[in-house]
Amino acid sequence: MRQYGLEPHHSVVDVGCVSGRLPAQLKDHLQSDYLGMDIVPDLLTYAEALCKRPDWQFRKVDGLTIPAADGSADFVVFFSVVTHLTQEHSYRYLAEARRVLKPHGRIIFSFLEFAVPAHWAVFDVTLNDPNPDKVLNEFIGRDAIAAWAEHLGLGVQAIHGGDEDFIALDQPMRMDDGSVLQGSASLGHSVCVQTKAQ
Ligand SMILES: C[S@@+](CC[C@H](N)C(=O)[O-])C[C@H]1O[C@@H](n2cnc3c(N)ncnc32)[C@H](O)[C@@H]1O
Repeated sequence: MRQYGLEPHHSVVDVGCVSGRLPAQLKDHLQSDYLGMDIVPDLLTYAEALCKRPDWQFRKVDGLTIPAADGSADFVVFFSVVTHLTQEHSYRYLAEARRVLKPHGRIIFSFLEFAVPAHWAVFDVTLNDPNPDKVLNEFIGRDAIAAWAEHLGLGVQAIHGGDEDFIALDQPMRMDDGSVLQGSASLGHSVCVQTKAQ
């Protein structure tokens, strides 16, 4: 988000904030508004306690509506969220994100795509899971992203494949398996950055 212009005075809407992974990283950087939303209330309580920012909002939502005014946010982000929604629901959520975005604001969402070979493993797990209530892992093609953006009046500023080392690291990062990343890293998921011209 910093690479795409996040400043301390910016306001952020984090759709699907779950237990607070992103706001925990933002809490000492962001001086302005943060709205974290999720459909699971217990996780929101945990995230709120983790961040200790009484000025921030953590809201339970139903459906695909963002409880924020038109043109009020600099960033609306969906990390690992549209991966679990149908394409129709993702499109509706992006339309809602566009509504709450300020002119020149940015939408960032992570996604799964067949263009990234490593994402096949996720497809394979879903393919072989017999559980009728299995987690939805929806793949999105870049052609769909281009069509959605055109219909929503959004610009696609960048798309980074999940295996692309595009994230500049300002310090070494230790992974759970003990390996250390330096210089730059990928996210794993692919990432799309969209802009609202006006
Ligand atoms: C895989 S988690 C990602 C969490 C977080 N963004 C992260 O990267 O750590 C997906 C989250 O999206 C939430 N979610 C699913 N549908 C949603 C919806 N319609 N609105 C808001 N959040 C939703 C889920 O409850 C879950 O907490």
